[in-house]
Amino acid sequence: MSEEDGLNNSDERLLQGVLARIWRYLQDNNNSSITINKAKNYRELQMKLDLAVREESVDVEEMLQDIDIYLSESVRTSHPHFMNPLWGGTNLPSFTGEIITALTNTSMYTFEIAPMATLIENEMIKTMSKLVGFDAGEGIFTTGGSNGNLMGMLCARDRKLPDVQNEGINGKSLVAFISEEAHYSTTMAANILGIGNKNLIVISCNEFGEMDTEELEEKIAAEKRAGNTPFCVIATAGTTVKGAVDPLDEIAEICKREYLWLHIDAAWGGAALLSPKTRQLLQGIEKGDSICWDPHKMMGVHLICSVFLVKSAGTLSKVCSHTDDAHYLLLDSSKEIDLGNKSLQCGRRVDALKLWLAWRAKGNEGWRKQIEKYFSIAEYLATKVSENPLLELACKPGMTNVCIRYTGARLTPDKQDLVNSKLRVVLLESGEFMVSKSIINNRPILRAVIANPKIDENIIDNFIETIVNIGNKISNDEYHSR
Ligand SMILES: Cc1ncc(COP(=O)(O)O)c(C=O)c1O
Repeated sequence: MSEEDGLNNSDERLLQGVLARIWRYLQDNNNSSITINKAKNYRELQMKLDLAVREESVDVEEMLQDIDIYLSESVRTSHPHFMNPLWGGTNLPSFTGEIITALTNTSMYTFEIAPMATLIENEMIKTMSKLVGFDAGEGIFTTGGSNGNLMGMLCARDRKLPDVQNEGINGKSLVAFISEEAHYSTTMAANILGIGNKNLIVISCNEFGEMDTEELEEKIAAEKRAGNTPFCVIATAGTTVKGAVDPLDEIAEICKREYLWLHIDAAWGGAALLSPKTRQLLQGIEKGDSICWDPHKMMGVHLICSVFLVKSAGTLSKVCSHTDDAHYLLLDSSKEIDLGNKSLQCGRRVDALKLWLAWRAKGNEGWRKQIEKYFSIAEYLATKVSENPLLELACKPGMTNVCIRYTGARLTPDKQDLVNSKLRVVLLESGEFMVSKSIINNRPILRAVIANPKIDENIIDNFIETIVNIGNKISNDEYHSR
């Protein structure tokens, strides 16, 4: 690179250094003997890196050293044994999209400033809306499923109180309904929108984590009798812990009868639409008024990549009204294609490019295979757990969530609790596997999620052996050696 390009030797050394490190890191992703995390406590980690910014600049070599420490201390989420949150792995075309997004550094307000990105985002919205069954719908990329749930509740509030943007809620007691397994972002949404958390009515679930629709009907009636105004039901298609899908057809029927907005949180489960074998799990999804769907979860597109879709076009520009104050930004000339007037954000990242590149690289067939593989590996894991006398399934697996409890031999439930809590910590410290902890029926469990393209049956066998060995060791040390 020459000086005339505005780039100097240090820029070149920095970039070449980073590219070499990216290549090495990606190659190491295939190496399952590298640990997932180094399990430092934060004080130890603070000692490793000089975090302060100073008056004087650092040189390229020092920056590359900092980057080396950052890389070596990061949790390796693309490791084949990473099964912690609802995502994992590295989709290379998506990664490329991230690089190009950063390189072109623009914002999604208008076609004028983000021409290709605007066309691509519109195309992705159209593609995903069709998969849901929202043929005349519209949508927008958001900062995540949490934001999608907020937007769902916002649309619902707007429909119930058409003047709410000017008048505010004005003393009306709006109430919305969620299941007890709904994601916590629904509570934040109620808070942000001024609905109030106590006006978020929680409906019980059956043992599989699915909303009880009889109770939903009863509670809607009770709220009306109490003089409150029901306006929205948030159903979940793929709950966070159990992967359960609420009975969407029945809930849609109730919402239609009661004139309630139905928002479906498909942040996790939306990907099941990509295979004919799994899309039947989401039967009735097209009856929702809005949904959110995170390609950054089961589809493995890089964080952040999340879509909010509404059935009826025109909804978003109304609820996201920016008034005339945005005259310097939102233009009339490309109004029909601009996305800035459909978003709650002003500056907004290009998140569609990486999804589009990943989709083009895989094709629909590639997604189908990926999703089917995840479901089949989850089934394999569930079978192995139920066949093992020292383990049990804490609930029926939903989506690709497998909730596991170490039961051991001759342990009381309270002792099992202690072993399960310790087991996850020991597993984490070993750096061998990473799963999350959760609570089912008031008891700690391990939640393994299959959302990593590198997963296979050998890894699952290894995982089972590892947790059983750790569980046995903890229970021997704690309870049998005295
Ligand atoms: C069911 C469900 N909805 C919403 C969210 C929030 O998604 P995000 O992390 O993209 O905000 C999650 C996150 O795990 C989830 O499991």
